[in-house]
Amino acid sequence: MKILMVCLGNICRSPLADGLLRKKVADHKLNVEVDSAGTSSYHAGNAPDKRMILTANHRGISIENLKARAFKKSDFTDFDHIYVMDKSNLEDVLELAENESQASKVSLILNEINPTSDAEVPDPYFGGQDGFAQVYDLLNEATDQIIEKLKNKGI
Ligand code: 4NP
Repeated sequence: MKILMVCLGNICRSPLADGLLRKKVADHKLNVEVDSAGTSSYHAGNAPDKRMILTANHRGISIENLKARAFKKSDFTDFDHIYVMDKSNLEDVLELAENESQASKVSLILNEINPTSDAEVPDPYFGGQDGFAQVYDLLNEATDQIIEKLKNKGI
């Protein structure tokens, strides 16, 4: 099973979602690979934003060694599921899908908490440190739900 986390820059939200799920997959000894990407290539090759690294480190999650990359069409075949952070990411990723099977792999990550909410993980990039902590709490809960789902599926 391979899971991809996607946001706009791949330096704030999706690296954290990636780091959280990687840690939980390892803790539960699940056979799941995790990666992340951005719908833009603005920050390709860069490490995550220092504020997100700090927020994650304070809570025991290591993301400092991740490197940003742009989402690419082959991700649809390389990954079993693609979680996006907001509706703009959803639109950008779906635009690249070539068929219904690829499109069906994509969903809003917060729908793992409440499947009908269509809630978004707010972009913390232009805000203060509080925004990063809020993103952490949302993604921590969403990744807990993903782990439960994977365990229930016997993965
Ligand atoms: P992310 O946050 O999508 O959570 O990585 C952003 C990072 C950079 C920019 C926007 C959002 N930017 O405009 O450079």
